[in-house]
Amino acid sequence: MTRVLLLGGSGQLGTAIAQRWSDCEIVAPSHDELAIEQSGRLADALISTRPDVLVNAAAFHDVDRCEDEQATALETNAFSVGRAARLAAQRDVLFVTMSTDYVFDGAKGSPYAESDSPNPLSFYGASKLAGERLVEAAGGRAFVVRTCGVYGPSRSPSRRRTFIDRILAAGESGEPLRVVADVVASPTFAGDLADALRKLIGTTEYGLYHAAAAGPVSWYDFACEAMRQARVELAIEPIAANQWKARAIRPRYSALESAKLGELGIAMDPWREGIAAYLALGVR
Ligand SMILES: NC(=O)c1ccc[n+]([C@@H]2O[C@H](COP(=O)([O-])OP(=O)(O)OC[C@H]3O[C@@H](n4cnc5c(N)ncnc54)[C@H](OP(=O)(O)O)[C@@H]3O)[C@@H](O)[C@H]2O)c1
Repeated sequence: MTRVLLLGGSGQLGTAIAQRWSDCEIVAPSHDELAIEQSGRLADALISTRPDVLVNAAAFHDVDRCEDEQATALETNAFSVGRAARLAAQRDVLFVTMSTDYVFDGAKGSPYAESDSPNPLSFYGASKLAGERLVEAAGGRAFVVRTCGVYGPSRSPSRRRTFIDRILAAGESGEPLRVVADVVASPTFAGDLADALRKLIGTTEYGLYHAAAAGPVSWYDFACEAMRQARVELAIEPIAANQWKARAIRPRYSALESAKLGELGIAMDPWREGIAAYLALGVR
């Protein structure tokens, strides 16, 4: 049985991995027990757990806070990830870590493939890109997987409601709803992402991958479809991104094409199916 040491196990992706990698033995210390910055503790955990795979689903991904807390963003998303990759490489443990669509600037205007050049607009995106590069430099067996707009149940004490939960709660309470219509992404159901990662780690085709729901969609269209599927009736007002003020600059177009996964025969579900799978869990 594959032994997995999982960081960030209480988050959206971590929860999905813990639930869906049923053929793996998973050890998932909490953030309090093992923060990714604590390299000494991580080294000890690698010795005591003897995993085949170290999965890092932890991150500092409050995009706006990363603008103000740049040192923390760099430490958590880049330097610590690089050290974890080196520790894994020293023990010949497969390393898996996640990156983001925010490494791109959105200028392409069509789904980004792995071969496209990154150009992050935010400090969060820059810190994650630095993490990608440090994993590559560590030289071990590793998968770096960029994803986008992840949603799923989470056991994290600091979890925030998912975009779908917030939309449906507003719809049900009759609150007026405004959603950006000129920002396009690939919102991805965490369960589908976890399934794809499980298949990916069964291969030896190490490197950088995109893993996101198939098909680009604006957040407005995504919200309308979530309301339709949940049978909540309330009109949503489409707004422009410049009507929504935020600290960090985000790409207007950051849909990802999971091109290399496709070459391995690993398909990501279309975004509409992700909504259906999430609603079917009934966990709101
Ligand atoms: N969510 C998105 O829309 C999105 C989009 C693109 C890429 N990603 C990437 O996908 C990955 C998974 O995201 P997610 O949505 O599953 O995140 P999440 O739900 O916020 O979960 C993050 C997890 O990491 C833990 N954690 C946070 N800081 C940590 C640290 N310094 N050391 C150890 N554990 C720490 C959290 O524990 P506590 O809550 O107890 O602190 C939680 O278990 C991340 O790498 C993220 O950057 C996410």
